[in-house]
Amino acid sequence: MKQTIDDYILNVLKDLNYKKVIVTGATSGIGLALSRILVFKKAYLIMAVRNVLKGNLLKDRLLEEFPKAKIEVVCLDQGDFNSIDKFVNKIAASHPDYDSLVINAGVFNSNKGVLLDNGYPIVSGTNMFGPIYLTTELIKRDTKYKHKIIFQGSLAKNKSRYKTFDNGFMNPFRNHFEQYNLSKLGLYNAFNYFQNNRTDNYSFFWAEPGISGTEIIRRYPLAFKKIAQKIMNTFFAKPLEACLPAASIINNELPSGISVAPGGLFHVRGLPTFIKFNAKIINPEIMEKALKSIYERK
Ligand SMILES: NC(=O)c1ccc[n+]([C@@H]2O[C@H](COP(=O)([O-])OP(=O)(O)OC[C@H]3O[C@@H](n4cnc5c(N)ncnc54)[C@H](OP(=O)(O)O)[C@@H]3O)[C@@H](O)[C@H]2O)c1
Repeated sequence: MKQTIDDYILNVLKDLNYKKVIVTGATSGIGLALSRILVFKKAYLIMAVRNVLKGNLLKDRLLEEFPKAKIEVVCLDQGDFNSIDKFVNKIAASHPDYDSLVINAGVFNSNKGVLLDNGYPIVSGTNMFGPIYLTTELIKRDTKYKHKIIFQGSLAKNKSRYKTFDNGFMNPFRNHFEQYNLSKLGLYNAFNYFQNNRTDNYSFFWAEPGISGTEIIRRYPLAFKKIAQKIMNTFFAKPLEACLPAASIINNELPSGISVAPGGLFHVRGLPTFIKFNAKIINPEIMEKALKSIYERK
């Protein structure tokens, strides 16, 4: 008999015995759905959010549903290096024993031409440069614990055409799809870089959620957004399904470097399955220039 999403959550995912799991962007869509599953499976959930008020309201809602849950809300703006510094200090001081970090926060169609305070376009700054800085700073800390770092990727990484670093990642005027696809290509290159330079205590994973009708299209006009979300959630994955690749990595002991995506047609939905590494989209220049540009700005 074909396994359902409910079966998978109830019977395949195991209890996590209050292992600490940090989820960035836990206030919406896939991050919120993942948070709910993690709490259901008895993780100690750390919601890393830019809007702490919203995070606390959602924490209260989860506690109503799961009164014995262990949940903490920590501030993190993934597009702000100072906020990342404070977050890394907080994790090193209070939760050095965290098991998994899911770098899930992301944006799609921001205002064109707008830059973050650190000078990066919002999309590449949030989806790529922030995660690279966050991971680099976290792994600099001495640790006696083992950690999984899980990058929330996208099929979109395969759709981008990279020509130059500046036009690829520093141009806030490209169309929304190109900026988004390239940011995920940059994140994939980061995943490969961290995997190749890893030390024993860190494992790196790539999780692809498929396609899901979330708030990622929040900047489209309301009527269009509602229709698009309905279509996406009917024909593609609901957030509860889309978060399963990341949930399955947290739940299993896997060798570092593994990628997981939905197992259905074109990997847009379905239960988690392993996917092959796509070496064709790796270009060492991307991480070389990304790290140089980040630390020149710091
Ligand atoms: N939906 C899809 O079809 C799809 C497909 C492939 C990959 N993904 C990836 O899945 C991840 C989650 O997306 P989603 O679809 O769940 O979108 P979503 O509903 O818009 O959720 C995005 C989350 O990221 C947070 N966020 C945005 N900018 C942030 C920042 N600077 N600092 C900290 N948090 C920030 C948002 O916080 P607020 O609540 O404060 O806005 C929200 O919690 C993204 O990385 C996305 O690229 C999604």
